[in-house]
Formats: sequence, structure tokens, C-alpha cells
Amino acid sequence: MKILVLGSGAREHAMVRSLRTDPNVTDLHVAPGNAGIALDATTHPIDLTDPAAPTALAQSLGVDLVVVGPEGPLVIGAADRLRAAGFAVFGPDAAAAHLEGSKAFAKEIMASAGVPTAIAHVCETLAEVEIACDDFGAPYVVKDDGLAAGKGVVVTSVRAEAIEHARACLSRPGARVVIEEYLDGPEVSLFCLSDGVSVVPLQPAQDFKRVGDGDLGPNTGGMGAYSPLPWAPEGLVADVVARVVQPTVDELRRRGTPFVGLVYAGLALTSRGLRVIEFNARFGDPETQVVLALLRTPLAHVLYAAATGGLRDLEDLRWHPGAAVTVVIAAENYPVNPVTGAEITGLERVDDIDDAYVLHAGTARSSTGALVSAGGRVLTVVGLGNDLAAARERVYAAARCVEMPGAHYRSDIALAAERGEVIVP
Ligand code: AMP
Ligand code: GLY
Repeated sequence: MKILVLGSGAREHAMVRSLRTDPNVTDLHVAPGNAGIALDATTHPIDLTDPAAPTALAQSLGVDLVVVGPEGPLVIGAADRLRAAGFAVFGPDAAAAHLEGSKAFAKEIMASAGVPTAIAHVCETLAEVEIACDDFGAPYVVKDDGLAAGKGVVVTSVRAEAIEHARACLSRPGARVVIEEYLDGPEVSLFCLSDGVSVVPLQPAQDFKRVGDGDLGPNTGGMGAYSPLPWAPEGLVADVVARVVQPTVDELRRRGTPFVGLVYAGLALTSRGLRVIEFNARFGDPETQVVLALLRTPLAHVLYAAATGGLRDLEDLRWHPGAAVTVVIAAENYPVNPVTGAEITGLERVDDIDDAYVLHAGTARSSTGALVSAGGRVLTVVGLGNDLAAARERVYAAARCVEMPGAHYRSDIALAAERGEVIVP
């Protein structure tokens, strides 16, 4: 099978790593990729903000499957065009990707499908925002309606900060903000494959959104993750499929916009039960780095089945029994205004650590061929082990090998879970 993966993050590097070990894959292409992916696949420098570019590339390569990594191309209709040109595509059409592209649309789908989520008000003026905030009380949850790479959400107990974020979001013409009730309890990311009809869940993971240890500082795209969740209640995955993902997939199909690709359910296990925080229309980053590290079933076969309506006939997925932890190494000043162009060294020292490896995100080559940072999240390091303690030991041993001026990473990824301190209220 000849495969084209779209994207340039560590999520795509993780996919490439899995696809490379799949004996069905004869040829692996990535567009645009990054400096690390270029060592493992053929990369093509295309502009993913052009919805026609992936189709042109897929045609020139003659691929059998296109896997869309990030939300950007999905929301502008890259998958629609690829499908219209006859390609098997893992990734939803724009209409279904709206599930991620608009938080207000996601709320509407959830209301129609009876999916439990936070109560929310969609506001178009600051006056409406103030009323909604006072209605819910602190802590305040204020979300930009549109795509914001995980950085459009402010959760704060300071009313002025909440209002200020809403003001900034509303300053763009036609903008809307969503104000919602605060959800207590631990968060879970559950990825489900969908072929438009059937749903197949992967193993759950937990992401760490805040930049600093102890969940302090601003939200980011994600600073680390682990899987599986030793503290997860019995039957959680089946419950989420039955009450959240299958009804959502059914509702989208009923509306004539079937969802083909990955439904990412971001959930909170609250004192009042399961609630959806958000949906994404693609694999999550960094959770993919741990989920795919544990998946034993060859990935190409699984993604192809989802892309071509074959999930009902897919055999049960097989998993490694242990645990995986990933830690994001971020650039100086991420997420505010990341410094790029910093030289990265020490990666070869990670080769000496068993069951640990480095995936590239924002990396590039300088004019002299040196490896340099080219984005906010620069690398993710992955560690595997029999349990979380062993995986944590390896991932942090690997992280300490990496040298880059101004680099920072969280030191507490999976720590509370390792200590048995994650409590479901
Ligand atoms: P989102 O982009 O909607 O996933 O939000 C990013 C992060 O903000 C989530 O992963 C949560 O940590 C936090 N968050 C979002 N909505 C809520 C909520 N209603 N209550 C508490 N925390 C939230
Ligand atoms: N890990 C959060 C996301 O991918 O949106």
C-alpha cells in the first residue's frame, strides 16, 4: 500500500513510525513533514492552507490512502477534494469536521444526539458574556468559537480575565464566544475510528494542557500524555462509545454528512457523571504518540478499513500490555511567542536508552544542515515500560539527553497516576 500522510507534527511522526513497521506499506510519503520525518519517509513541501494541493500531490504519487493529520486541511475541505478525485481518505469532509471547527456546532450536534456536555451560552456581545459569566459563577470557562490550536480557551477564577479573553475573541468580525459551566474531575481523551457508520475505540489517554508543572500557566496544544489510565472506571470506553461517540456519528450520518476518520472525544469525569469537553476531528497531539506506541495491530490496515467503510469487519485491535508516556519539549517562550532557530543536540544519546525514542514536531535544518527548532512544540520524547513508573523513568531519561537553548518541559507527566492520586469524583 502506498500512503500519503498530511501534516508536520510529532503526531504525524508517530503515525509514520507505526506505518513504517506495517508490512503492508510499500511506500510512505508525508507532506510537508519535518526534519525528523524526512529521515523515515519521503517528504514533499506543500502548502496545507491550499485545499487543492493534497489532491495534486496524491495524483502525482498515485497513492492508495491519504491520512490527514491536522484539523486545518480538513476544515477547508482537503478531504472533500481528495474523495471527489477518487482517493481513500482517512479524515472527514469539511461538513463533518465542523464538529471541531465550531464549538457552537458541536454543542448543537450533542444536543440533537443527547450527548452529555457542559451547559453553554453562545455569545456575540460583551454584554451577553457578562450575563453568562455571572449566571455560571467562578471558575469561568471562556472559549473562542473557532479553531485556535488549543489556545482559545481560558479557565480562570478572575472575572476580569474571563471578560478580557472574551473581548479579545470578539474583536474579530463575526466572532462568537462560548461561555460554559466549569467541569470538575479528571480529563480523558478517547480516540475512536469511524467509517461513517461503525465506531472502533482505541485505548484512552490523558493529556496535560497547561504549560507548567502542577497544571499552572496558560493552555497549550498539549505538553505530554500517557496511556493506559490505571485509574479509569471499569467500562469507561464502552460507556463513551455508547453514550457519546456512536450517537454523534449517527447524528452526523443522519444529517447527510457522515464522519470518516477519527472522532476525538475530550471528556471530563465529573461529580455529576461523564461530560464532553470538546470534540476534535483528528488524532490528538500528543496523545497519539502514546496510543500508537501501544497499538500492535498494523496501522495501515486499520486506517484503510475506516477510510473504506470496513470497520464492521475489522478484527479486534491488539495492544501491548504495558504503559507509554510522552513528554513535549517546547521552545523558549512557548506558548506565548516561541523562539525558533535554536540548535538541538544530544538526540543520538537517546538511542542508548531502551524503549525510549524521539519524535520530531517543530524541527528543520539550518543552512548548514544543523537541526534547529521551527515551532512551539519542538520534539516529543516517548518512553515505554511495564507500568507508568518504568515508562516515566525512560521518558525523562531521554528528555534529559536533549539539549536546546531555552527548552522547557513538564516534569510531572503521569506522576499523579503513577502515585495513584487521580481521583474520579
Ligand atoms: P478545549 O479546547 O475545549 O479542549 O479546552 C481546552 C482545555 O480547557 C480542556 O482540556 C480543559 O482542560 C479546559 N476546559 C475546557 N472546557 C472546560 C470546562 N467546561 N470546565 C473545565 N475545564 C475546561
Ligand atoms: N491534545 C489536544 C489536541 O490534540 O487537541
